[in-house]
Amino acid sequence: MHSPITSASGHCSAAATPAAMTDKARFWNRIARKYANDPIADLAGYERTLQRVQALLSTQHEVLEIGCGTGTTALRLAPATRRLVATDVAEQMIAIAGEKLASHTLPQLHFRLADADAPVAEQGSYDAVLAFNLLHLVTDLPQALSSAINALKPGGLLISKTPCLNEMNPLIPKLALPLMRAIGKAPPVLCFDAHQLQAAMTEQGLQILTVERHGSKGKDWRVFIVARKPDAPPLAV
Ligand SMILES: C[S@@+](CC[C@H](N)C(=O)[O-])C[C@H]1O[C@@H](n2cnc3c(N)ncnc32)[C@H](O)[C@@H]1O
Repeated sequence: MHSPITSASGHCSAAATPAAMTDKARFWNRIARKYANDPIADLAGYERTLQRVQALLSTQHEVLEIGCGTGTTALRLAPATRRLVATDVAEQMIAIAGEKLASHTLPQLHFRLADADAPVAEQGSYDAVLAFNLLHLVTDLPQALSSAINALKPGGLLISKTPCLNEMNPLIPKLALPLMRAIGKAPPVLCFDAHQLQAAMTEQGLQILTVERHGSKGKDWRVFIVARKPDAPPLAV
């Protein structure tokens, strides 16, 4: 039995109404330009993840990325896909991603505004859904996972890399993050460890294919998980 996934602020946000979407985008809109300019903290770990994902994708694949930020990863992965639709809840993130896309020739890449907590319009359309540094930020993890699964074709892959805040020094989720949140320096976050995240995925019917850590700088609290949507729904008994 796994302990419940908690929010570091003890606050539970509202469902994905337009107002709630604006609310959850506020922090990210404010920091978008800074986020775009910040260097990647562990470049070797990032490149390892990219290589791993590229090996799982094909130029026949329709791919959805949720929480794409300023599009850095989407720009790298798009050539490995037939079509990559990269979405984010924050319009400033999507605006920056669009600016970056303008200097590339990637007709298969499309950036769109969308909330990962809300149902995806194109259900059963994607061979893979990508979620990098996102699943700890959604309002309702089971709902977000269910939306991602609904977007997938049977047999499609959910490929994620996620900070597991319960694997950090306990003072960070219990003290530092709520304090930072109170002064507007951190977004609302969900706290879980890799086992709890895997359990949330299997509860939604996903099959876990691999659980990896790609960090190159000591203890890595980001977990890389590839999970598969079953070919057919389980039989009701
Ligand atoms: C830590 S950044 C990660 C960005 C990118 N995936 C990366 O790895 O660099 C988190 C991103 O998720 C977005 N985000 C947060 N909550 C979201 C939600 N409910 N739906 C979609 N995007 C969300 C934020 O706007 C932000 O761009």
